[in-house]
Amino acid sequence: MIDKRHRGIEYLRISVTDRCNLRCAYCMPEEGISCLTHDEILTFEEIITICKSAAKLGISKIKLTGGEPLVRKNFIELVRKIKAISGIEEITLTTNGLLLENQLEQLVEAGISRINISLDTLDRARYKEITRVDGLDTVLQAISKAAQHPKVQIKVNSLIAKDFNENEILGLAELAKNEPISIRFIEVMPIGLGRALKTISKNEMIEILEMHYGKLKPYNEKLGNGPAKYYEIAGFAGKIGFISAVSECFCEACNRIRLTANGYLKLCLHSTKGLDLKKLLREGMSQDELTKVMAEAIASKPEKHHFGEASGSYIEDKIMSQIGG
Ligand code: 5AD
Ligand code: SF4
Repeated sequence: MIDKRHRGIEYLRISVTDRCNLRCAYCMPEEGISCLTHDEILTFEEIITICKSAAKLGISKIKLTGGEPLVRKNFIELVRKIKAISGIEEITLTTNGLLLENQLEQLVEAGISRINISLDTLDRARYKEITRVDGLDTVLQAISKAAQHPKVQIKVNSLIAKDFNENEILGLAELAKNEPISIRFIEVMPIGLGRALKTISKNEMIEILEMHYGKLKPYNEKLGNGPAKYYEIAGFAGKIGFISAVSECFCEACNRIRLTANGYLKLCLHSTKGLDLKKLLREGMSQDELTKVMAEAIASKPEKHHFGEASGSYIEDKIMSQIGG
């Protein structure tokens, strides 16, 4: 559907759990957070009901996120059920990759067509420092297995920050050299614990890459549903992308809404505005009514983020694992 600011909203990100098997320093405190209880989290049935209303409103693309989505029990069953909804054309997944290798085949069979894997370093000790788990080899193995799968497209997402991992940009870019994996460098956003990191802008990252590889060539064809801008490096099998929410606000073209694990329809990553769908469903709201209230909420999607402002009446203060990234 089209919102009041003439944006076509066709993409829903669903966080299926706020739990995670990593503790990335910029996302979760080491001791973890108090997680949602079983009762607080949406059931599969509730997620499906919401997806059906979303599909009626023209949402055709679903991204499953977390926390870490693959820690949710019977996750594959959920993928299958969403895939069966009329109007849903594409289901994709964002994962940290730790549990991916074993589930890959079933995920693809169930209908996942693209997978984003988060990885911020290629150094084993640094990986352990950032995520507090010694998991680099497992993730790299999952990436290379998924990259060889004929029915799925892989992207690696790397958050880049100053004095954190900017020295890894060239190494991470090499992941796209021999295999058709796109690597996307993400400017750290001032959300949750990410506020403690210093953003490096897309232009600064490009400068680092160009010093080594020469001029990057813009790639203007569409790759996925997100705001990433892509470039080519001569001789590379995959593309290099940038998600630059901080230095180049792309809110004007935003096509997405979010559903948190506890059933809140979030209209913008950085705003608390939205609708408590879980409450409405548990009070007995019908499918048709749900579709109607969702349409009204989506129409009023906020205009843009307010990253520059420290706080404000609607500014989100949750951490990333609670929002869903
Ligand atoms: N800014 C940008 N990206 C973030 N992520 C987590 N916190 C932030 C932040 N503050 C990313 C992770 C992962 C994805 C799920 O969200 O690096 O790739
Ligand atoms: Fe888990 Fe992702 Fe947060 Fe890391 S960034 S702790 S992988 S939810």
